[in-house]
Amino acid sequence: MKIIRATDYNDMSRKAANIISAQVILYPDSVLGLATGSTPLGVYRQLVDWFRKGDIDFSKVHSVNLDEYVGLAPEHPQSYHYYMNENFFRHINIKPENTNVPNGLAEDIDAECARYDKLIADLGGIDLQLLGIGHTGHIGFNEPDQDFDKMTHKVKLNQKTIEANARFFNSVDEVPKYAITMGIKAIMQAKKILLVANGEGKAEILDRALFGPVAPAVPASILQLHPDVTVVADEAALSVIQKNHPEAVM
Ligand code: PGA
Repeated sequence: MKIIRATDYNDMSRKAANIISAQVILYPDSVLGLATGSTPLGVYRQLVDWFRKGDIDFSKVHSVNLDEYVGLAPEHPQSYHYYMNENFFRHINIKPENTNVPNGLAEDIDAECARYDKLIADLGGIDLQLLGIGHTGHIGFNEPDQDFDKMTHKVKLNQKTIEANARFFNSVDEVPKYAITMGIKAIMQAKKILLVANGEGKAEILDRALFGPVAPAVPASILQLHPDVTVVADEAALSVIQKNHPEAVM
């Protein structure tokens, strides 16, 4: 695992965007696994900027997003579909039909999960998966205390996650209670993983995820077993790791 230190949020965003950009330049038909949340916003902004300057071409890229709330339509401003369109897809030349987000409105959620896994398999798997990390150690919406061996499935959101995401809704009651998420097994099948983290609030969980025991209580800890993980984090998010494992940080 490579842990790359960034000075601040912008530096984290630029370094992570550089890794994605290199992937797309080297392999224009890459399948990118994409994430939502506050952390990757700067990464998308940077990629859009480079696209506008003519440095990256997304016309052959396919994307698959990690997760979506159950019950929110793609047009709902808090849906992850909407987030991806607004923050990334509509600013670049990726073909809309090449972008994929789980359908939170599917009548048969289990069938939707199976469709999503098949879609990823039919694309030949994910070449580079971008991940954030939740305060609970979740990746995608894989919350603590779940098994490690799930593919795409429906999850009940952890109360801490619901509270963390309430800032985007009018009230905590409006936050959906369920989501569809790629499972840990599906994430672990990605060929490369790029995890981004910023801010002091992530320092403790990042240390536990990368250096603690590998256990479903900290879902991101499974990444210790993946052969190709790069973590790009700012000084604040690395503060505990720098103290406990200074030799591990580049
Ligand atoms: P955040 O979310 O980027 O908004 O902190 C991370 C996550 O929940 O994966």
